[in-house]
Amino acid sequence: MTNKIRIGVIFGGRSGEHEVSVRSARSVIEAFDVERYEVVPIAITKEGRWLSPAASALLLPEETRRRLSESVSVAGQALTIVGDPSRRELLRLDGDEGSSKPQRLDVRFDARLDVVFPVMHGTYGEDGTIQGLLEMAGIPYVGCGVLASSCGMDKVTMKSLFRQAGLPICKYVWFLRGEWERGAATVRERVAKEIGFPCFVKPANLGSSVGISRAADAESLSGAVELAARYDRKIIVEEGLDAREIECAVLGNDEPEASLPGEYVVHDEQAKFLDYTEKYSSTGHVEFVVPAPISKRQTRRVQEMSVRAFKAIDGAGFARVDFFLRRDTNKLLVNELNTIPGLTDVSGFPKMWEATGMPFAKVLDRLVALAFERHEEKSRNLTSL
Ligand SMILES: Nc1ncnc2c1ncn2[C@@H]1O[C@H](COP(=O)(O)OP(=O)(O)O)[C@@H](O)[C@H]1O
Ligand SMILES: [Mg+2]
Repeated sequence: MTNKIRIGVIFGGRSGEHEVSVRSARSVIEAFDVERYEVVPIAITKEGRWLSPAASALLLPEETRRRLSESVSVAGQALTIVGDPSRRELLRLDGDEGSSKPQRLDVRFDARLDVVFPVMHGTYGEDGTIQGLLEMAGIPYVGCGVLASSCGMDKVTMKSLFRQAGLPICKYVWFLRGEWERGAATVRERVAKEIGFPCFVKPANLGSSVGISRAADAESLSGAVELAARYDRKIIVEEGLDAREIECAVLGNDEPEASLPGEYVVHDEQAKFLDYTEKYSSTGHVEFVVPAPISKRQTRRVQEMSVRAFKAIDGAGFARVDFFLRRDTNKLLVNELNTIPGLTDVSGFPKMWEATGMPFAKVLDRLVALAFERHEEKSRNLTSL
């Protein structure tokens, strides 16, 4: 037993962003202060299976594994969290045949969990599902709650909340896959009339540019919609902007603070938009510059809008807010808010805080404190009359 905070870092998961999540988990585990925290790595496979801490650790590079406690390597049983607050610790997944009771763990392994950090991007990680499980289990966790997570995941819901909060957003329309299948011509007309070309076609609920494409004209629209429809039943079409891409990191609960903004600078004009590989590889085509080379006034405006966007979805813990700065009008528009931003060594979120004077280890301390704060705040609520 130690007095360290035991933090379960859940990573991987059933998402197209599984690999990015593993990279994010790696930098998170490397940055946690080993004097204060004991990390229990919990990997979820692409199929959704929860691995043992020992097997989870094997997904991480050797130098990251060295930061984990010895006991992790002996915890060879698959563990899980169940939605029962009286069993707030990790439970062995495979109980004995015929026994419905999950079994207690190997005695050498401390099953206690003080807090959980879901370091998972996209589906089943960032969308409120894992957050729902953690709420049921009564375990404090890092980041947004169920509602903010699912609102931040759905580009249509997110935009309507932004609009209500008075935030400027681009023109868009949305429709269901079924509507397209029943009447593509009607949908095409609507897009041409209300949005025009070029436009961006996206599945409403994914991330990292998966299923997103740019349609230059009416002819290419169908292919773009068919692609998006493979990933989601809800499709959003936005006006295609010629814009700079500015981002800002937010940290806090009810009184969130914004970092200095950064900018994705595209060096290769051939790269039409920042796709999944560009953002996470080091091809040299894109560069993340902090602070973003914009005026003081625009910087303040980005920060103010980031806080407003965070509050609009009732965010908690952290988020990254992405903006478009239109080249024609010089106007800022909110593109989206990511409730579990990339935390890899090349990601914007840690870089923006670093530039603002907060190193990543401090950001993590703050995230854990915010998780406890939010949990306590919520426990003040009456749950029965
Ligand atoms: N309306 C738009 N106009 C111009 N470029 C866009 C537009 N929407 C998206 N993009 C480009 O596509 C990228 C991914 O789109 P985004 O909405 O951020 O989805 P994701 O959730 O996958 O990050 C953006 O970073 C930007 O480069
Ligand atoms: Mg984006």
